[in-house]
Amino acid sequence: MRIGVLCSGGDSPGMNAAIRGAVLRGVDVHGFEMIGFIDGWRGFHDGEFIELDRPTVRGLSPLGGVFIGTSRVPPWEAPVTPESLDALRAKMTSYGLDGLMLIGGNGTQTVSSILWDAGINVVGLPKTIDNDLAGTDYTFGFDTAVSIASEAIDRLRTTGDSHRRCMVLEVMGRDAGWIALHAGMAGGAQAMLLPEFPESIEQVCEWVANVRDRGRSALIVVAEGFKLEGSDDAVTREGLDGFGRPRLGGVADMLAPLIEERTGIETRSTVLGHVQRGGSPTAFDRVLATRTGIAGADAVLSGEWGNMAGLHGDRIEMVPFAEAVGKLKTVPEERYAEVRLNFG
Ligand code: F6P
Repeated sequence: MRIGVLCSGGDSPGMNAAIRGAVLRGVDVHGFEMIGFIDGWRGFHDGEFIELDRPTVRGLSPLGGVFIGTSRVPPWEAPVTPESLDALRAKMTSYGLDGLMLIGGNGTQTVSSILWDAGINVVGLPKTIDNDLAGTDYTFGFDTAVSIASEAIDRLRTTGDSHRRCMVLEVMGRDAGWIALHAGMAGGAQAMLLPEFPESIEQVCEWVANVRDRGRSALIVVAEGFKLEGSDDAVTREGLDGFGRPRLGGVADMLAPLIEERTGIETRSTVLGHVQRGGSPTAFDRVLATRTGIAGADAVLSGEWGNMAGLHGDRIEMVPFAEAVGKLKTVPEERYAEVRLNFG
C-alpha cells in the first residue's frame, strides 16, 4: 500500500504530530509506503514529494507549522470536471499511489468528499485553528490558538487596567467565533463578539461603560468575522485569500475609535493575527493530532476510505465525509448565552 499525504489550507499547530502519528503507525506497524507532497496540491501537481519514514518524522511532535508545507493551491481549476478528476487519477497512478491522506479544514474535507464520490481512495485528518469543522468535537490547533489568545488577554489586561483603557483584541475566526469564545471565557473578557451573533455598537458601548462604572477597565475579544448589527459585511483588508475570498481583519481597529468616541474611554486595539497560528502546539493538540494520524493510518488498513478521523468525546472515530462537509460548526446559542449574561 502506498499513500500520499497532503496538507491544504492554513497551517494549524499539530500538523507535524499528525503526520508523525500516521507514519509511525502506517509505515512501521502496517508496512505502508508513504510520501508527503511539498506545499500541498502544489507539490502534487509539480511532482515534488519526499518519502516519509521513522527518521523523517523524528522529534516532530513539539514543532509548530508543518514540515512538508501547506498551501491554498487548489487540486483543480474550478469547477471540477470529469477531466480534472481523470487528470488527478492519472497523477496518482504515476506516483504509484493507492490512496491519499488529506490534512485540512472545511475546504479540504469538501475536496476529499468529491474525490471519494469519484471513486478515489481518501481518508481525511481534520485540522483548523477555527474549530469550525462539523463531525468532530475539536480540531487540533484550536487549543493552541486559544492558549495564545488567552495569554494575550492576560497581558492586555494589565496594561489596560494601568491606563484605565478599554482594550479590544481581535482573534481569527472567519465564520465561527470559537477562539474568541473560549479565549474570552478563559481570560474573563467583558464581551466576546462573534460572527454568529451580531451586536449593535450601542450595546457594545453600554457594556464598556458598565465596566467603567464599576471602577474597572473593559477587555473585549472580537472574532475577525464579527459584523455589527445591521451591517451585512465583515471588515476586510486589501486583496483576496487563497480561496479567492476577501481577506478579513481590522474589525478591532474599526471598533476601537467608535467605542472611544461614544464612551469617552480611551480605547486601544490589538490584532493578534498569525501569532495565534504559529509556534509549538499545546500538549492537548499534540496528543489529539497524534491520535488523529494513528486513526487515519488504521482506517487505511481496514479500508475505511471516504471517512475523516473525528474526535467524539474521548474516542477518535471515522466519520463519513458526507456527514462532515457543507455544515459549518458554529457557536450554538446556549454557549453564547453562558457568557453573554456576564458581559459588561
Ligand atoms: O485557517 C483559518 C484561518 O485561520 C481563518 O480564521 C483566517 O481568516 C485565515 O485562516 C487566514 O488565512 P491566511 O493565513 O491565508 O491569511
